[in-house]
Amino acid sequence: MQRTFAVIKPDAVAAGHQGNIIAAIQESGLKVVALKTLHLTEAQAKGFYHVHAERPFFGDLVKFMTEGPIVAMVLEGENGIKRWRDLMGPTNAAEAPADTLRGRFGTNIERNATHGSDAVETAAFEIGYFFNGLELAGL
Ligand code: TYD
Repeated sequence: MQRTFAVIKPDAVAAGHQGNIIAAIQESGLKVVALKTLHLTEAQAKGFYHVHAERPFFGDLVKFMTEGPIVAMVLEGENGIKRWRDLMGPTNAAEAPADTLRGRFGTNIERNATHGSDAVETAAFEIGYFFNGLELAGL
């Protein structure tokens, strides 16, 4: 069993797609083991995306991620990190296949509806950034 961190980003929440996205997660066989809604501050968004701090798109990305509420989740399943990324599709929603979540609910490379951890180490950091031990205990 492997845990990964998932976000329904502000574009998809504002458009009311959170129910469809959570349904797709459950239909895929991944389990939602923790879930919360929150509206990130600028500092919180910068901390979450700190690995991209030097990238040219960082400022716009932080602005987007703070424009409205998000849904943060911990997902669990065999090979969970890759399964969730496959379900999301490629980063650029404009080029994502129509049967992926980014293809269905995203718009472009920035407004791409969902986030998923890309490796075991980033999953551990991101889960710990958003959820404390009590929120993950016993699941
Ligand atoms: P990245 O980690 O490359 O993609 P992914 O989310 O698929 O793991 O980038 C993180 C986020 O940064 C991405 O979801 C959207 C944003 N982004 C841009 O806005 N412009 C870009 O050119 C890239 C590469 C990413």
